[in-house]
Amino acid sequence: MKIKLGKNRRKDKSEMKTETISEKSKFAIVESYKAARSNIMFSLSADDDKIFAVTSYSKGEGKSTVSANLAISFSKMEKRVLLIDCDLRRPNIHNVFKVENAAGLSNIIGKMVDFDSVVHRDVLPNLDILPSGTIPPNPSELLCSPRFENLVKTLYEDYDYIIFDTPPIGVVADALLLKDLIAGFVVVLRERSTTHGDVQNIIESMKLADAKILGFIKVGCTSNKKRSRKGYYYYQYY
Ligand SMILES: Nc1ncnc2c1ncn2[C@@H]1O[C@H](COP(=O)(O)OP(=O)(O)OP(=O)(O)O)[C@@H](O)[C@H]1O
Ligand SMILES: [Mg+2]
Repeated sequence: MKIKLGKNRRKDKSEMKTETISEKSKFAIVESYKAARSNIMFSLSADDDKIFAVTSYSKGEGKSTVSANLAISFSKMEKRVLLIDCDLRRPNIHNVFKVENAAGLSNIIGKMVDFDSVVHRDVLPNLDILPSGTIPPNPSELLCSPRFENLVKTLYEDYDYIIFDTPPIGVVADALLLKDLIAGFVVVLRERSTTHGDVQNIIESMKLADAKILGFIKVGCTSNKKRSRKGYYYYQYY
């Protein structure tokens, strides 16, 4: 996959093109996601759980891209997968999959709609998407409300895997509010963006919150000049 990273003009999220894996994707990228998937599956089965969240320390490091691609990768195993956009501040999953976001998670928690009327079923085979919905004034309160917990409990039986996309931990604490609903966090690190200090901070925040890190996914361009000029994506799972 050869992708230019775009010019300096600040783009609206809906204008940004996020690369999702498909039959046309480079073998190495698809395989990296498969490797990450296997590791996450092992971690989840150890806890007999099926829910995890994807986060990172700062904004724009690739959380939505990684959660979307992990959701696709999991769905390709003939497992029912639900991807929920829990980023109620700068949601992006609806842009990645090009689905409506007139209503979604925030509206369900606010008792305005029910799950069935806003979930996008089979966006890809076996993959359902629940977009963020209307951006609320109080995202943190919604994410730690009993209504959200109840929603997750009712969905638990319907899916084999549930993945949460979340806002960056270094900016807002929303992701950590989800820790009791999930097996743990997959943390995205972006080459030449995430610093050593960021990694230390995220590990410290997770420890303080008594939250579990399932693993790290490193994304970004290679340092090799020739390849980085072409804007190669690559992924590594630790
Ligand atoms: N591996 C990668 N290499 C280069 N660019 C990438 C990579 N992954 C994602 N991007 C690009 O980086 C931008 C931000 O990605 P994305 O929206 O997934 O980040 P995010 O962490 O979810 O951001 P936010 O904190 O705003 O929610 C997008 O334009 C995306 O296409
Ligand atoms: Mg995002």
